[in-house]
Amino acid sequence: MNRMNKTVLVINILVVSSIALSLISVTASRGSEDASELQNRAIFGPGDIKHGYESADYTTDTLDLLNRIGKEAELIEFARQPPLGLPPVPVPADNPLTTKKILLGRKLFFDRRLSINNTFSCAMCHIPEQGFTNNEMETAVGVEGRSGKRNTPTVYNVAYLDRIFHDGRESTLEQQVWSPFLARNEMANPSIGYVINKIRAIDEYDGLFEEAFNDRGPTMETIGMALASYQRTLNAANSPFDRWYYAKEKDAISEQAKRGFELFTGKGTCSACHLVQSEHALFTDDRLHNTGLGYEASMSRDSGTTRVQLAPGIFTELDNSVIESVSRAKENDLGLYEVTEDPNDRWKFRTPSLRNVALTAPYMHNGSFHTLREVVDFYNQGGISNELLSPLIRPLDLTESEIEDLLAFLQSLIGSNVPALVADAFAAPIGDVSKDDPDWTHKNKLKY
Ligand code: HEC
Ligand code: HEC
Repeated sequence: MNRMNKTVLVINILVVSSIALSLISVTASRGSEDASELQNRAIFGPGDIKHGYESADYTTDTLDLLNRIGKEAELIEFARQPPLGLPPVPVPADNPLTTKKILLGRKLFFDRRLSINNTFSCAMCHIPEQGFTNNEMETAVGVEGRSGKRNTPTVYNVAYLDRIFHDGRESTLEQQVWSPFLARNEMANPSIGYVINKIRAIDEYDGLFEEAFNDRGPTMETIGMALASYQRTLNAANSPFDRWYYAKEKDAISEQAKRGFELFTGKGTCSACHLVQSEHALFTDDRLHNTGLGYEASMSRDSGTTRVQLAPGIFTELDNSVIESVSRAKENDLGLYEVTEDPNDRWKFRTPSLRNVALTAPYMHNGSFHTLREVVDFYNQGGISNELLSPLIRPLDLTESEIEDLLAFLQSLIGSNVPALVADAFAAPIGDVSKDDPDWTHKNKLKY
């Protein structure tokens, strides 16, 4: 992970985020059940603390990965009884949740061997301590540095998605997993059978599928079902907002955040798409809209410069033509059009949930906004005008203090069980080529 991060820092635009700060404040507000500050930090601190990296005086409090302490959670409970503010978790009748499946899915999620060159797991893009996304990259980078065109979304609360991916092209978590397993720029496995054979070849999985699935071994279906089961438990809510709005705790959020909520549902018209219901809120309408951002990205490809950070305190502006001369040209992204081929669907992307949004920078389908402030400024100016712009997007005329209020509200959506889910992820076994067995790769090389 560390090696990857270094590459990322060099090639990627800096994402100065409030993430480290947000996580630290979550830690601070966790109450007294944890032994000591240090213990908290060891469990919940981000693996790589980049706060202040833009400054030449940067020093890090980064913890050695091996010193992070995990703590198993009763994951199934987060699905049986989702935290305050979330509706009941939909579970398909043919894949009921069991602890065996969840733990098997978790093991698969953290297994680097399930990629073509044994290096890349799901968790390396959906990084637990970074909001189960990647705070350091606008768009995802997979095996051997191959980059994709889209931002990694969080996997918090994916149990509720009817339309999966930024263009909504998948509908079940069970099926979704085969996209990253097979994508050349993600885990790059050459075929479905290759992944199945690999799992069969790894001793650690002996019997685990059979126990979880009534004697069925690893198959295209059971692998999807196990991963879906794990992800269905990653429900993060009971945020300060939920305690104020649904549990009627008067002081759970600040007056400023309360004003922000008024703007969210009123003058800002945010809740026209990011829905809030009377019993619960998913903050999405499960539909796809054109905000103009995709249109702008399509029209401005290949021009301009990119600010690149080379080391703490050292930046340079690179002409995009220089970047493109050493990498692939940025791919065009037409959103829903790529699924329907209907020209009216160009640049439509799915409305994401806003739960835990303070933890999941950078934002939008292409990660082009690094802070929530930039997102709100974008809406305030009325998105980007184009012939297919959603009629719900228009200039808002928000004042500076109204923008601050809206931001305070967006900050109040971090689930109180985020630390528990992250600590559980730290307790998960990491599937890796064994250091004690230098022959592993050779022995487990599939014969083709
Ligand atoms: C190389 C980075 C990378 C890896 C590895 C990766 N993902 Fe993703 N994930 C992404 C990106 C990027 C998207 C959005 C893709 C799109 O919208 O076209 C995504 C989307 C998703 C979504 C949909 C979320 C949503 O809001 O629609 C889920 C669920 C998911 N990934 C789970 C997984 C699982 C399970 C694995 C391992 C089998 C995995 N991912 C591996 C980068 C990655
Ligand atoms: C027309 C429907 C619509 C309205 C109105 C709307 N949004 Fe969105 N929102 C979206 C869509 C669609 C996206 C994803 C766009 C993309 O990926 O390019 C999004 C993305 C976001 C994101 C980024 C989330 C992430 O994880 O990347 C934030 C934050 C956000 N909206 C906040 C707001 C706020 C605040 C308002 C009101 C000022 C608002 N939205 C109004 C549809 C809408």
